[in-house]
Amino acid sequence: MSAWIAWYLANARELPWRKTLDPYAIWLSEIILQQTRVNQGLPYYYRFLERFPSILDLARADEDSVLRIWQGLGYYSRARNLMKTAKIIAFERNGIFPDTYEDLVKLPGLGPYTASAIASFAFNLPEAVIDGNAYRVLSRLYDIDEEIGSKKVYHSFRELAQNLMLGYSPSTFNQALMELGAVICTPKPLCQQCPIAENCLALQNKTIHLRPVKKKAKPKEKVEMYYVLPISNSGDWILQKRPAKGIWSGLYVFPEVEKSQFRFESAHFLHLKHLLSHKEMDLYFELREFESVEDYPDSQLITPENIEETPFPVPFLLALQHWKLL
Ligand code: ADE
Repeated sequence: MSAWIAWYLANARELPWRKTLDPYAIWLSEIILQQTRVNQGLPYYYRFLERFPSILDLARADEDSVLRIWQGLGYYSRARNLMKTAKIIAFERNGIFPDTYEDLVKLPGLGPYTASAIASFAFNLPEAVIDGNAYRVLSRLYDIDEEIGSKKVYHSFRELAQNLMLGYSPSTFNQALMELGAVICTPKPLCQQCPIAENCLALQNKTIHLRPVKKKAKPKEKVEMYYVLPISNSGDWILQKRPAKGIWSGLYVFPEVEKSQFRFESAHFLHLKHLLSHKEMDLYFELREFESVEDYPDSQLITPENIEETPFPVPFLLALQHWKLL
């Protein structure tokens, strides 16, 4: 595999988390990159580290300020798990980041992938990473026609990567594998530029487009939601903080109402479509004069000076901008 390592050393993108051995920064980068592309994630990575430069800063931060930095990235439980893990490391382990796969994988929000990534990138331990990129590269290189997604197939890919890694720096090997998948061996691959095209069995067998074998995606669930933003003359708003579980966890939304309470004839009603990985949402928003907080259970009054620090899901931000409230 030395051809792909040489290719990586000569062609790697300059990414900030590749220039550090700080497990805190590496952990943050891997959590951001779990469901987010490098280009979208980069500004968040910089802003997050500027605001919370160390794990102690994050452990002491209040939830709203962390979610405010995460605003727009989606999958907000990632940020809530970051806070949980920061508190464990800062307050129960004297701020010392765990330095073995076994200790890392037990932390909230860390799975086999993230634990391997931190173990290899921060501590250069021989723990192979298997992410979407690695599945693509390895399934093509060896023309593997097993469906990915099960634990059993994960372990067979992991074992294969562990063997290929022998004799290389684990950190470099893992970065190179992911880089090849991210830049060359993409869903529409650039085989003419691939440093290991000669060794690629799927290329020989003309099965590139069939690899990796994936389960058919389920059709997206369609949901309709109705929200009313009550606003007073003095600019106070009534908002609800979403519970710890489920969509938009910990973020602030307008109070949700039944369809029957929604006034479609209102001049201040707005309809937005919002796509998530597993849902297709039709969102209806209405701006309404403020009556009484009591009319809106589980809600709280937010004054204008606190709105800057309040984290909102993207469609709610769009509604606020539409009404020129932000
Ligand atoms: N995607 C996930 N982890 C990554 C990393 N360390 N570098 C580039 N892309 C990644």
